[in-house]
Amino acid sequence: MTIDSRDQALLSRAVELAERGRRHVSPNPMVGAVVAHAGETLGEGWHAIVGGPHAEVAAIRACGDRDLRGATIYVSLEPCCHHGRTPPCTEAILDAGLTRVVVAADDPSPKAAGRGLGILRDEGVEVEVVAADSDLGRHARLQNQPFRKHARTGLPWVMQKTATSLDGRLATHSGDSRWISGGPSRDLAHGWRAEVDAVVVGIGTALADDPQLTARVPGVSRQPRRVVFDSEARLPLDGKMVASVDEAPVTVIAGRAASRSAVDALHASGVEVIVVTGENEHSRVRAALSELGQRGVTSLMLEGGSHLAGAFFDAGEIDELRMFVAPLLLGGRTAPGLIGGEGVERIADAVRPIDITRTPVGDDLLTIARLKEW
Ligand SMILES: NC(=O)c1ccc[n+]([C@@H]2O[C@H](COP(=O)([O-])OP(=O)(O)OC[C@H]3O[C@@H](n4cnc5c(N)ncnc54)[C@H](OP(=O)(O)O)[C@@H]3O)[C@@H](O)[C@H]2O)c1
Repeated sequence: MTIDSRDQALLSRAVELAERGRRHVSPNPMVGAVVAHAGETLGEGWHAIVGGPHAEVAAIRACGDRDLRGATIYVSLEPCCHHGRTPPCTEAILDAGLTRVVVAADDPSPKAAGRGLGILRDEGVEVEVVAADSDLGRHARLQNQPFRKHARTGLPWVMQKTATSLDGRLATHSGDSRWISGGPSRDLAHGWRAEVDAVVVGIGTALADDPQLTARVPGVSRQPRRVVFDSEARLPLDGKMVASVDEAPVTVIAGRAASRSAVDALHASGVEVIVVTGENEHSRVRAALSELGQRGVTSLMLEGGSHLAGAFFDAGEIDELRMFVAPLLLGGRTAPGLIGGEGVERIADAVRPIDITRTPVGDDLLTIARLKEW
């Protein structure tokens, strides 16, 4: 049997249901599922909360006591076959008597990677996966970029968010940057903070702006970890981040240059300090990402400034750029640009997005450029 337009519609619904897990399921993927028989939907489910039932189990439960033998389950991500916080979904599918499974995207985790589908096929279940280059397959993969990158590399997915003037400056020559973008843009960015596991700045930004970096939008179930790249552990103990450490955790990425007393004082204030080494700034960025990935950080929003963004860029570790361009001009030779660092040598070496969208937000223009796909 092949995937027909009725299957496509039901699978598309499963991908839509998966969205309901956004902000709630990290470090797990967002997953949605629909159980149907002869095109009629019998039950829908999604992974709603970490530790809660997986989408397949939720959809099967939503069918109540109906006889599901011969029915099909449409799932946005390959079903798991391992015991985690909950039992394997492959078992739930087999126990329910479902005879066909249609999947929108593979699960690249080493403990999955096609194993669940193999188990189901061995048990006589018909398994179909949409073509990887189809719109639906791509959409389903894009939905879970943080999960996919972390599963494949152990590193968090990095989204750089910035606000620049029309002439590409992040701040004036004196360091003033409040506010370049308008209220609607800042509201949108607060919502993005609620979607990621961590928000990251360099110590330059922490000292210049004393930001709180929490997600101040309604309905936030979990605040992101605040991470400051700060070689000498200079983060002020009387700043807003340390003051709100009970509201959201704070991590300082320090270097060997940090004094014992500075590190101890941060520890005593409830701040986690991770010491990374590396011969240059971009190798220390990679080392820090690896440490954060090991602590379960699957996604982060890099909020600046120019210097730290340059180190991420030189490390090749920016996966997506979200840039608000505001209708104002700042000028100034020393006013910082979007991305510092070494940069590329020649135009031929430029990093070119895989795709790009541009949307007006209030008086600003939001450009979203995807640089990598996982
Ligand atoms: N418009 C916007 O969207 C926006 C956003 C954020 C900031 N800003 C503005 O940008 C300005 C601050 O930017 P900035 O470029 O001066 O500072 P920054 O990028 O925030 O911080 C740079 C500092 O981070 C530290 N660092 C630690 N580890 C690093 C690593 N591996 N790679 C690179 N840096 C590392 C370095 O200091 P140590 O060596 O001492 O650790 C470095 O000097 C402020 O004026 C702020 O208002 C604007």
